[in-house]
Amino acid sequence: MKRIGVLTSGGDAPGMNAAVRSVVRSALSKGIQVMGIHHGYSGLMNKEITELNARSVSDIIHRGGTILYSARCPEFRKEEGVEKAVEVCKEFGIEGIIVIGGDGSFRGARDLSLKGIPCVGVPATIDNDISSTDYTIGFDTAMNTVVDMVDRLRDTAQSHERCSVVEVMGRHAGHLALQAGIAVGAISILVPEIQCDIKEVCKKIDIARKDGKKHFIIVVAEGFETTVNDIAKIVEVMTGVESRATILGHVQRGGNPTVRDRVMASYLGHAAVDLVCQGIGNRVVGYQKGEIVDFDIYEALQMVKPFPFDRYKIADIISM
Ligand code: ADP
Ligand code: F6P
Repeated sequence: MKRIGVLTSGGDAPGMNAAVRSVVRSALSKGIQVMGIHHGYSGLMNKEITELNARSVSDIIHRGGTILYSARCPEFRKEEGVEKAVEVCKEFGIEGIIVIGGDGSFRGARDLSLKGIPCVGVPATIDNDISSTDYTIGFDTAMNTVVDMVDRLRDTAQSHERCSVVEVMGRHAGHLALQAGIAVGAISILVPEIQCDIKEVCKKIDIARKDGKKHFIIVVAEGFETTVNDIAKIVEVMTGVESRATILGHVQRGGNPTVRDRVMASYLGHAAVDLVCQGIGNRVVGYQKGEIVDFDIYEALQMVKPFPFDRYKIADIISM
């Protein structure tokens, strides 16, 4: 193998740049050229491709976002889109691709692998919702951002003796909400994986108030069935505690990656290069029980990530 490509796809995540850097330098160390593909699969089809060298990835390990830009590309879901991408790979002499993104991006990597371009996926999303890995690049930074933001909300909630109802990202998953909720000491954490009656949350607030608690934080995953605005209204009516809703939004996707994200991205990028350079494609790398692992993409996409109900229970017990 003489030349590979690297792209970032789907929602960006802090640490993607560290992964790109690791991919480029790991490949160069094996004498393999690396082409940076801009704007994910869309840029692959439209030939937005430039060569990367060791210096192209200098000074990016600490930066959020992705220097390669990211995109969502509906055209790539169709066979014609994948075939077009294969032609571009042939034209540019790209013999394998490292795809840094979430499970949607891995589906694209599988399609491309099946058409003869070996692709290896590197898990990167703030949602930590990829089943084949315990950890996804970006999760730790996003959790820290949420905690930082909610600490600020706590200051004002404390001053006004209010309840702050905060929506965090996560798409259909509650991993970000759970961990951040524990870290900010939320009275309740509402996630799509667990049914919860808001009346029960209000009862908990009433009990805590009688015990002297004066301000409250409720962390809500965006995939939960009731919106933060509605939850705030219900809490205010049922408990008499003045409540405010906040949607943290895309601030959670930005910022300098934490140590964990930089290190994890560096290891996972390196592992992906090891595979693709042997001509092994249709794989995703991941991190399980302290080890770097890899799986067939199809198998990885069939896996189910269990929600840690035991930890949710602990969070519930210690919030009173
Ligand atoms: P993520 O990778 O973060 O889960 P998306 O689900 O938006 O993000 O997927 C990113 C891109 O991956 C899509 O825009 C599309 O180009 C490609 N993709 C997603 N699903 C598929 C699929 N089923 N088949 C082929 N390509 C897909
Ligand atoms: O997958 C990452 C994520 O930030 C989700 O948490 C969120 O649901 C989604 O992407 C938002 O996507 P967009 O950037 O298209 O608004």
